[in-house]
Amino acid sequence: MKTLILAGGSGTRLFPLSREQYPKQFITLFDDESLFQKTVKRSLLFSTPGEICIVTNADHRFLIRDQLAEIGCDCTVLAEPAGRNTLPAIYYGAKTLADDGGSDVMAVLSSDHLIDAGTAYVEAFRKAERLARDHLVVFGVRPTSPHTGYGYIRPGAVLDEGYAVDAFVEKPDLPTAERYCADGYLWNSGLFCFAADLFLAECERHAPAVCRAFERPLEEAYASVPKVSIDYGLMEKTEKAAVVPFDAAWSDLGNFDALHAALPKNGDGDAVRGEHIGIDSGGNLIIADRLVATVGVRNLAIVETKDAILVASRSEAQRVGEVAKALKERG
Ligand code: GDD
Ligand code: MG
Repeated sequence: MKTLILAGGSGTRLFPLSREQYPKQFITLFDDESLFQKTVKRSLLFSTPGEICIVTNADHRFLIRDQLAEIGCDCTVLAEPAGRNTLPAIYYGAKTLADDGGSDVMAVLSSDHLIDAGTAYVEAFRKAERLARDHLVVFGVRPTSPHTGYGYIRPGAVLDEGYAVDAFVEKPDLPTAERYCADGYLWNSGLFCFAADLFLAECERHAPAVCRAFERPLEEAYASVPKVSIDYGLMEKTEKAAVVPFDAAWSDLGNFDALHAALPKNGDGDAVRGEHIGIDSGGNLIIADRLVATVGVRNLAIVETKDAILVASRSEAQRVGEVAKALKERG
């Protein structure tokens, strides 16, 4: 199987750990490896280095080269002249992989998630691979809250492996997400698996503007291609989607609350990277190079980097993205 890794996003909700020039997938948070490096290692479960293709923004290609060299993996890196969201990125990668010949089933992976690559992960991809010639396969995670930042999937008819997708709805509003949780919908994990030619044919049907743009040279293609995610541009429209339930531990580390949940905690429920003294405090996320003392405060995110300190309520962690906006406006 081939693997396409999407590494061109610029997450803003982990400010100041992640920045436009240094997005979340490149930060080292677990086991001295970045989330990107972990994703590459996970890809090696199913693909040789020669079968792995990374699609990233041209600005990050040197960072990618360095991080690949650190883990000794030599794979293809495709540099996009501009970020146009995930559908153009996957189209560019799928065309390149399809032109290479060989097996054309490909896994498409987000590069900024934390995923346990144990038996459940391997099983899910093996199932998906068997469906991937006739289906655009998504991996469905059981929701733990009516989060509005995810795609929601309604499983339908039982297939040999997994289910047909009856409905795919990207980022619904809160009342709709609450209803979906009650009705047994699954979250879209942001991982996909399909044959490149099936994907390209479905794009031709549902996103012809993307296909037409890529008939032109790369710079021109990116100047004219619509900015659209695979979720809105294809998955909401196709009738060929299937879902494989995904039971591996999964987090998209979408904000500091999710990061707190993913890190090990002390007896007070604090997740600490660095040195910390807590007095009558708990439930905090603390990341700093200096000693941090907390007295009487709960459920905060306190994050220090060389040039910035963030103090946020964990329950408002989703709003940390507003800091990046404010910084941009300030110039
Ligand atoms: N190459 C490239 N170019 N990669 C990109 C681009 C781009 O323009 N934009 C985003 N990416 C990468 C990101 O780095 C990330 O690894 C992945 O594509 C997904 O993009 P996000 O921007 O993080 O998407 P999302 O979190 O809003 O939503 C997606 O993931 C959710 C699960 O985490 C959707 O697939 C949802 O349906 C899903 O629930
Ligand atoms: Mg994401």
